[in-house]
Amino acid sequence: MVWLAAVRRILFCGVIACIGAASQAAVDVALTPSKSSSARPSLPLGLPPLPRAVETAQPLAKVELGKQLFFDARLSQDKSTSCASCHDPKQGWSNGKRFATGVGGHVGARSAPSVVNSVYVSRYFWDGRANSLEEVIPQPIQHPDEMALSMDDAAQRVNEVRGYRLQFQQVFGVDATRENLAEAIAAFIRTLVAGNSPFDRYRAGDLSALSPAARSGHDVFMFRANCQMCHRGALLSDGGFHNLGVGTDEAKPDPGRAAVTGDKSYDTGAFRTPSLRDVSRTAPYMHDGRLETLGDVLDFYEHAGDVNSHRMQMLNILVLTDEEKHDLAVFLKEGLTSDDYPAVDPPKLPE
Ligand code: HEC
Ligand code: HEC
Repeated sequence: MVWLAAVRRILFCGVIACIGAASQAAVDVALTPSKSSSARPSLPLGLPPLPRAVETAQPLAKVELGKQLFFDARLSQDKSTSCASCHDPKQGWSNGKRFATGVGGHVGARSAPSVVNSVYVSRYFWDGRANSLEEVIPQPIQHPDEMALSMDDAAQRVNEVRGYRLQFQQVFGVDATRENLAEAIAAFIRTLVAGNSPFDRYRAGDLSALSPAARSGHDVFMFRANCQMCHRGALLSDGGFHNLGVGTDEAKPDPGRAAVTGDKSYDTGAFRTPSLRDVSRTAPYMHDGRLETLGDVLDFYEHAGDVNSHRMQMLNILVLTDEEKHDLAVFLKEGLTSDDYPAVDPPKLPE
């Protein structure tokens, strides 16, 4: 159904600031939300169907509302920090720093992940402690080192802004509450998808999509180094938790997944396998952002066989030639970088 695809494309363009050739008319349509407008991303090449629980199209007005809230620093105690401070579209929807910095310059202990393609995640955060975006969102708002505002205070602040109250009435039929605030932001995040990388085109049969070096790096990734044992599937993540020994040398090591499951023998120091899509945009790397470049990550994997008491037995000592390492890095950078990465400019915020 060509017309349906076209409508979806128009709507989606409005939401994530279409890259490429959206006509101005199309964008205007999308920016004039009506109750009947809905936003469902037309999925880029390589991404799986949306999970069933969230496949229903969301009203465009809800997505637009969530976008404003995502960029609004009034949702933090001292009005200094928005979601976008740590998930900045220009920094790969992360913050380009080792740790996240929130209100009053407080620095957290983990690195901020990208929120692109999070519609596909089933256990959120590095330790998987949240099962849905609606469960995630109150956490940064309330966290003393991030936005440091109770959800009720956040809802109240939003209701003091006339332009927000009108939108909440339009979208939900009621004022902002702790629940519908999270629901609106979640609806926005679910529109942030990226695929159509050279890797996706290669998998779809276009063998010239990867340069010769990227192609040989692909083979190292898939076979020789067996990275796909954990970084597998469309998201290049198994969604599971593994201990690679990152940070186990700290005086007080981050317990990782064990803090959620209580399973100290198996889950201590285990973190969720990150997706590697668009990984070149989200340095620094690992849950504590300790590795600055992809080259550092590959150096790390060469020594990841080093022993620590909880490390997965799955990681063996990896010996790669310089050429293999070079090609693997090319694959990670060139091969996994999406053409249609969501670029969103901060919207005008209501007064
Ligand atoms: C001060 C920096 C900071 C702010 C502000 C912030 N985040 Fe985050 N965000 C992080 C960090 C750090 C993590 C990882 C925390 C962890 O794993 O324990 C994270 C994780 C997430 C995740 C989970 C991603 C995944 O793949 O597991 C989502 C979704 C998210 N944040 C959305 C938001 C939203 C929405 C807001 C605004 C309401 C927000 N964040 C505000 C730093 C921040
Ligand atoms: C046993 C499972 C496993 C294998 C095998 C594995 N990884 Fe990972 N990878 C992970 C986990 C888990 C993390 C996060 C670890 C942490 O932060 O403590 C990670 C992190 C990364 C990161 C950092 C991403 C980010 O956003 O911070 C890159 C890049 C990466 N791996 C590439 C590779 C490559 C290349 C290979 C093959 C040489 C490989 N991985 C093999 C599980 C694995």
